[in-house]
Amino acid sequence: MTRPDVDPVAHNREAWDRQVSQDNEWTRPVSSDVIARAREGDWSVVLIGYEPVPRDWFPADLRGLDVLCLASGGGQQGPILAAAGANVTVFDNSPKQLEQDRIVAVRDGLELATVQGDMRELRAFGDGSFDLVFNPVSNLFCPELAPVWRECFRVLRPGATLFAGFMNPDLFVFDREAEERGELAVRHELPYSDLKHMTAEERARLLGDGPLEYSHTLTDQIGGQLAAGFVLTAFAEAPHHASITAKYMPGYYATRALKPRG
Ligand SMILES: C[S@@+](CC[C@H](N)C(=O)[O-])C[C@H]1O[C@@H](n2cnc3c(N)ncnc32)[C@H](O)[C@@H]1O
Repeated sequence: MTRPDVDPVAHNREAWDRQVSQDNEWTRPVSSDVIARAREGDWSVVLIGYEPVPRDWFPADLRGLDVLCLASGGGQQGPILAAAGANVTVFDNSPKQLEQDRIVAVRDGLELATVQGDMRELRAFGDGSFDLVFNPVSNLFCPELAPVWRECFRVLRPGATLFAGFMNPDLFVFDREAEERGELAVRHELPYSDLKHMTAEERARLLGDGPLEYSHTLTDQIGGQLAAGFVLTAFAEAPHHASITAKYMPGYYATRALKPRG
């Protein structure tokens, strides 16, 4: 039973704004030292968990590259890539997350654009505007993926790439309360959604004022990119740093996909 009374994107906009005030680790801007090193060519960014993206996923030289950091606010990847020489636009649903990017840009003298919106609608950008879309783990907060991949494909130039990080959907089968006690108990069928699988009372108790999540499926993640026209060129996985499932299974997957020329 879906609940039309809750707009998940509006809910998550406010929830991520609150995560900034609550100092969620994915809202903490990088330091001036990190930016200074990136300016010297010593940089790395994360797409999944704490794993740096393999350097050879990127072009050798970032200078002049038009990069869209998609649903990637928080003053992390965007400012690092800008310091490494890319022309960066950070797009995010949360105004406060984007403010974190602007704080770094002003503090360290970086050129960087920020645009607020829903990752399913990139109408702020024309066709073929970017050489790279960098989308770290965030689509678990978005109710549907097909429009996201379609929009990524549209705003990329032929020959350009999409880096996407996403959750292993299998993590969502487990009972949250049992997991907090250190036990893994299978409870939910997939695909999972906080709105569909929890009552309002359970959401208030277990999620508080946090964001709503969706497991999605690998068909929607990987099949969706292929259906949009992308060709996969690399794949990676990483453990979920904050979950006891890390002992047994990957928590995150990452894809590198190419928009073919012609
Ligand atoms: C876990 S944080 C990721 C940002 C972080 N820089 C990182 O390293 O992964 C998830 C981000 O996705 C954004 N987000 C959630 N739903 C979104 C949507 N529908 N459209 C755009 N951004 C969204 C949130 O506001 C938040 O900044």
